[in-house]
Amino acid sequence: MDELKQKYLGAITDAADEQALEDLRIAALGKKGEISLKMRELGQMDPAVRQAAGAALNRLKDEIDAALRAKKAALADAALDERLKAEWLDVTLPGRPRRMGTIHPVSQVTEEVTAIFADMGFAVAEGPQIESDWYNFDALNIPPEHPARQEHDTFFMARAEGDDRPPHVLRTHTSPVQIRAMQTHGAPLRVIAPGRVYRMDMDQTHTPMFHQVEGLAIDRDLSMANLKWVLEEFCRAFFEVDQVELRFRASHFPFTEPSAEVDIRCSWEGGQLKIGEGDGWMEILGSGMVHPKVLAAGGIDPNEWQGFAFGLGIDRLAMLKYGIPDLRAFFESDLRWLRHYGFASLDLPTVHGGLSR
Ligand code: PHE
Repeated sequence: MDELKQKYLGAITDAADEQALEDLRIAALGKKGEISLKMRELGQMDPAVRQAAGAALNRLKDEIDAALRAKKAALADAALDERLKAEWLDVTLPGRPRRMGTIHPVSQVTEEVTAIFADMGFAVAEGPQIESDWYNFDALNIPPEHPARQEHDTFFMARAEGDDRPPHVLRTHTSPVQIRAMQTHGAPLRVIAPGRVYRMDMDQTHTPMFHQVEGLAIDRDLSMANLKWVLEEFCRAFFEVDQVELRFRASHFPFTEPSAEVDIRCSWEGGQLKIGEGDGWMEILGSGMVHPKVLAAGGIDPNEWQGFAFGLGIDRLAMLKYGIPDLRAFFESDLRWLRHYGFASLDLPTVHGGLSR
């Protein structure tokens, strides 16, 4: 019995892994194991001898069982230690930054423009990009034979065969939103209308789709002086300069009378545009007093109300403010290009100084 005990306890101590332990368990305590066989022999013994031998065998069985469990636990601990030594994590390493997209210059500038006019009490109005020719032209005092209809290089929507109505157009400017806003809200009125417009035009500074912001203010006694003040306030805020100077140049739009194109004083030094100083003038928008026929088309009595309107090119404003040379680059959406011009506002903040760039 002692021999058996020595043999198994020694072997258990030396077991290298769980498989070896399992083999030992079967050899000792399994159905045909040495201890089990001895148990079976008890039946043929003298009752007196049997009692002592049975108790001793049971004890031995318990001892081996306990030793197996203890060794099994020790092996598991050792394995965990091994893993902990092999698999470790340096929590002091900088994280891998996840690059996010940037806001598009046109979206950013639209938001800037909207915020500035909102401060002056202008609400945002919207209209469809596919417009009837009445809203895009007729209501704006551009009758069918008017040369401006050709100048606008209009995209016409196809009509089904046999449909003789005038075709819808891709709106050539945001001015039709003037009419829609007047019809919806009446006077007095102060709205801007940012959005996409379309003309058949493509070169370094023109794309077939571009963005405008329309401005419209209607009240009982508005004048060109109010228009000029609003535009000066806008330019100061938008270009972030203390001083701006605007020049009104007599012009013609069918929907305003009088009409003026507006230039801003600027300089070009070494290819760098500076707003508000210098000897140069740069055209930035078209404007004027709303034509009485346009007020009437919008359902507003021109004998009681008057207003001013203006139209700004958003893409052009973005190019001027951020020094972007080529309008076509807007459509390449290249993140490197956008970052170059400082459009990185959606990037996560740099947490690990310098490493994430
Ligand atoms: N709709 C004109 C254009 O697209 C701009 C404009 C708007 C001019 C409002 C005067 C008043 O060129």
